[in-house]
Amino acid sequence: MAEPRTEPRTDLHSLADVREAAAAVLSDRARAFINGGAADETTLDDNDAAWARLALAPRVLTGVTEPDTRVTLLGRRRPHPIVIAPTAFAGLVHPDGDGGIARAAADMDTVMCVSTFASTPAAELADRVPELSRWFQLYVFTDRGVTRELIASAEHHGYEALVLTVDRPVLGVRERERRVGVRVDPTHNALGSPVPVDTSTRVDASLTWSDLERFAADTELPVLVKGILTAHDARLAAEHGAAGVIVSNHGGRQLDTTLSGADALPEVADAVGAELDLLVDGGIRRGTDVVKALALGARAVLVGRPLLWGLGIDGSAGARLVLELLLEELQIAMTLTGAASIAQLDPGVVRPAPWNR
Ligand SMILES: Cc1cc2nc3c(=O)[nH]c(=O)nc-3n(C[C@H](O)[C@H](O)[C@H](O)COP(=O)(O)O)c2cc1C
Repeated sequence: MAEPRTEPRTDLHSLADVREAAAAVLSDRARAFINGGAADETTLDDNDAAWARLALAPRVLTGVTEPDTRVTLLGRRRPHPIVIAPTAFAGLVHPDGDGGIARAAADMDTVMCVSTFASTPAAELADRVPELSRWFQLYVFTDRGVTRELIASAEHHGYEALVLTVDRPVLGVRERERRVGVRVDPTHNALGSPVPVDTSTRVDASLTWSDLERFAADTELPVLVKGILTAHDARLAAEHGAAGVIVSNHGGRQLDTTLSGADALPEVADAVGAELDLLVDGGIRRGTDVVKALALGARAVLVGRPLLWGLGIDGSAGARLVLELLLEELQIAMTLTGAASIAQLDPGVVRPAPWNR
């Protein structure tokens, strides 16, 4: 294990700074694995750009001093609307791996969504950081016995929701990974967990809506469907027992040239915003991005790569720095937008940006 730094870094002032610092210390493989996307990376790039295509329309003289960032997610009050996205094989990035992210998440009272392919098995993570608010991200394997075991273990170990990822029946065309030969070393896999080591061949590509219905009926936990980009599929998720959907293109790593989360969110919010908990991810890098997502109908956002950058530079302290920067920016953005609470962030707060014409 890396020695924890005694002093937190004071030279990093934004998630972009953290990204740059991480680029300098990560191996070529780790960098390609984290930062890469699918094919021409059109969607990967657009995930960031799409939030910048929205302009904010602030209200002034509202008297807001300390905005209330609390939200209700899956029926529970949370101090803020930021959730850590599930990311596989954090052990590639830093020896602290998922444990480092979990420690930061617990310190910042942030929900962490733990990947099926976490380097530390979800059960072990729960034992190591019991105070962590945690959701379990589920990939369904062709061996349904393994899947049932994973769900039972998540239920038993205090996971509060299942996040069923539906946009990865097969792996996308990951050229950056192919170029540098990213392979997942079995020691980075969840040793001791029931997850098969040859993971990519075992994910069940034949999953359908009726499978979702069965999972939702068989578990006490609320099920969020991750990887929805259309109103049509969001309605189907609602009809088949989902408690919520995550509007996501998997960080641009799966099907290239899909819509960004920012652009897909409004139609999904129109379709199911009143019935389901709606979350969005992809390219959230600023407090203003969070404000825009919430204004367009999301209850919360997920953040993926920045936690891995932070982990890469400084283990748990780096992951924590990322959460601190984003939460501070959110507070400032809400104050400057004139929103006393999340409920006051409505679609009137955003406009198409003139610099995009
Ligand atoms: C290195 C890496 C690994 C990922 N692994 C998973 C995973 O195991 N399960 C999953 O549902 N999504 C996975 N994702 C997608 C993220 O959960 C999330 O949708 C995406 O990264 C959000 O975009 P952002 O990185 O721009 O914040 C992964 C993303 C990255 C960058």
